[in-house]
Order: sequence, then structure tokens, then C-alpha cells
Amino acid sequence: MEINRKKMSYLNIKNVIKNYNNEDNIIKNLSLKVEKGEFLVIVGPSGCGKSTLLRMIAGLEDINSGEIEINGKIINNVPPADRNIAMVFQNYALYPHMNVEKNLSYGLKNRKIPKAEIATRVKDISKLLQIEDLLKRKPSELSGGQRQRVAMGRAIIREPKIFLFDEPLSNLDAKLRTQMRIEIRKLHDKLKITSVYVTHDQIEAMTLADRIVVLNSGIIEQVGTPDEIYHEPQSLFVSKFMGTPPMNIFKSKVYDNVANLFGKEMKLDRNINDNEVYIGIRPEDIYLEPIENSIKIEINIDMVEKLGSESLIYANIDNHNFIVKTNEKINKSLKSLYVYIKNEKMYLFSAKDEKLIKKQ
Ligand SMILES: Nc1ncnc2c1ncn2[C@@H]1O[C@H](COP(=O)(O)OP(=O)(O)OP(=O)(O)O)[C@@H](O)[C@H]1O
Ligand SMILES: [Mg+2]
Repeated sequence: MEINRKKMSYLNIKNVIKNYNNEDNIIKNLSLKVEKGEFLVIVGPSGCGKSTLLRMIAGLEDINSGEIEINGKIINNVPPADRNIAMVFQNYALYPHMNVEKNLSYGLKNRKIPKAEIATRVKDISKLLQIEDLLKRKPSELSGGQRQRVAMGRAIIREPKIFLFDEPLSNLDAKLRTQMRIEIRKLHDKLKITSVYVTHDQIEAMTLADRIVVLNSGIIEQVGTPDEIYHEPQSLFVSKFMGTPPMNIFKSKVYDNVANLFGKEMKLDRNINDNEVYIGIRPEDIYLEPIENSIKIEINIDMVEKLGSESLIYANIDNHNFIVKTNEKINKSLKSLYVYIKNEKMYLFSAKDEKLIKKQ
């Protein structure tokens, strides 16, 4: 299917502030640019303002101050119907009494698009989404994944400038989610419609995104490629938010660039001005074999979880929980273990502002 590429544009959110009923700001002076054809994923805890942000882009919610631009034009006062933005929600409501074909074409009929044009678009879209054989069926005669595909089709058929997704897959079972996730990315690679996608699911975020935005209480914590967000988290919040199991975090006093981790002194590879830091270590960065430039720590094992190709060791040291992810075979009855933590694999965050302390 050919989507008219001239119609596509990018999105520029400038210093947007939003509150409801003059209460505390939900979105706090947020600025964000989405490039043409980009797939941007927003993640963040419940209530941080993800849906509010999408709804403001769509025009379903007013903004208190700031500007939203599409293709260089300020759209603050453009009504939702004239923004040419399509939105796919978690609860995609198809019309139950209409068959798939009618569900797809309904919006176009309302816009007075000629019949022949509608027929072509329905044909193209249903081929693209592989729902050609389902056109005569009612939504109740479809599986969850098929219904979700129809909902996507209904959004795409309008040839929108921008696609907004608000947790579109969260009602589906795990297998279907994976399948739909791959389909959405493939579809995006074909159509290249500028997309903003909200999800709770980290794997969805990592696999779908060109760039990820981590939102925390209406403020952007970090914007970056999936690799940057995972490997170079700029704050304690981002480091804790991305990664399953999450990063191990310990507070440590620092003196002369030497930290104290569970009674073991460790010379840090950074100049630390604070006298206290958070040390972060990803579960997969902990070694079970002796390794250079590392400290050796004994952990008490609470439980070993075998996941097939790898195991998770849930342990504790001095009553601090500690998780290790390993490919090595672990005996489930093991009570304790020595592990090795490497200096260069540690993330250090200031205990004051919780920002990453970079290597010089
Ligand atoms: N219409 C409204 N009136 C008042 N407060 C609202 C309204 N809609 C949302 N809020 C509040 O704004 C904040 C952000 O809500 P929002 O729905 O954007 O969060 P979210 O990040 O999408 O969360 P979730 O992941 O749970 O969907 C919440 O504290 C919510 O209670
Ligand atoms: Mg939401």
C-alpha cells in the first residue's frame, strides 16, 4: 500500500504544562521532538502522565501552556478531528454490529471519501494486516489478536500523519503480544508513520523503539535509543526502571574515591565529590568466577529460579536483596556462593541528586 509521504510530518512539543482543575502540574514544562517516521516509545510508572501526554497531542485534552507543533504548524487550537492523528487504545472498541469491512470503512464514509477510493483502501489495508479472509465477520467472531488488527486497520486506513498508541497490547495474552509486537514493528517499517507508543512493558519498549522516553512524574528523565537507556542510564530512576530483574542498588560511603561495599574496600574509577553514592550492578554483570579488578563477596542464597538457558539467583548480603543472573548451571540446594563484582561494570549515582557520576 502506498501512503502519501508528503502528508507525513514530525511532532514538536514545546514547554508544555498541564494540570487538571488548577491542581499540581501533571506534565511539567515538557519538551520533546519526534522526527518524521520515527517510532518513539514512552515508558514510566503508572500515573506519570503518559496518557495525558498522548491525549494532548490528539487534542482530546487542553494544555495549560506551551505549544504543540505538527510539521511546523502550531496545533494548540486545532480540533481533534482536524489534526489527522489516529489513536489506538488498550480498549479498542469495534462496532459490534458491523462486520470487519464496515468497521474499517465507517470513518471514511463519514468523511465523504468516494466509494471506489474506500474500496481500494479496505483492500490494501486488509491485505497488509492479513485480515482479507475476515472481512465479512463480526468482531464477536474474531480472536483477540484479529480484533486488535482490525482496530489498527481502522486507524491506518485514515492515512494519519501521526499514530498514537496507548498500551494497545495489554489486553492480549503473552504469546499474542509478542506476535502483535513484531507485526506492529514490521508495519511501521513499511508505512513509516510517525508513532508515539506508550507501554508498561519493557521488552515492548526495547524492541519497538527507535528512541525511548522515560517519564517520571511529568518530567522526562532520559531520552535515548534502547541501548543508551539500558547501558547508559543517566539517573538512578532510569537504572531501576529498565531491566528485569532490576539493577541491584546499594548505598555506600566514599572516602578518597574508595567505596565500601559490604565491608570490602573498592577503589572507584571515578572522582567522587560526595561522601556517599549509590552503586548499581546489573544482575547479569555479576560473575561467579574470579575476575581481574573485582571484589569478592559471599552471598546467601534464598532461592534459585531456573529459566532454561539461564538461572536467577535470589540472594542476600547483610539483609540486602541481591539478584544474580547467570548462564552457569546452579545447584538448587546451594546455600551460599562467592560472586565477583567488577569495578567497570558498576554504575555510580550521586546520593544527593541521584544522577549518574560519569567517568572522566
Ligand atoms: N481527567 C482528569 N482529572 C483529574 N486528574 C486526572 C485526569 N486524568 C488523569 N488525571 C491524573 O493525572 C495523572 C496522570 O494520569 P495519566 O492517565 O496520564 O497517567 P499514565 O501515565 O497514563 O498512567 P497509567 O500507566 O496508569 O495509564 C494521574 O495522577 C491521574 O490521576
Ligand atoms: Mg495511561
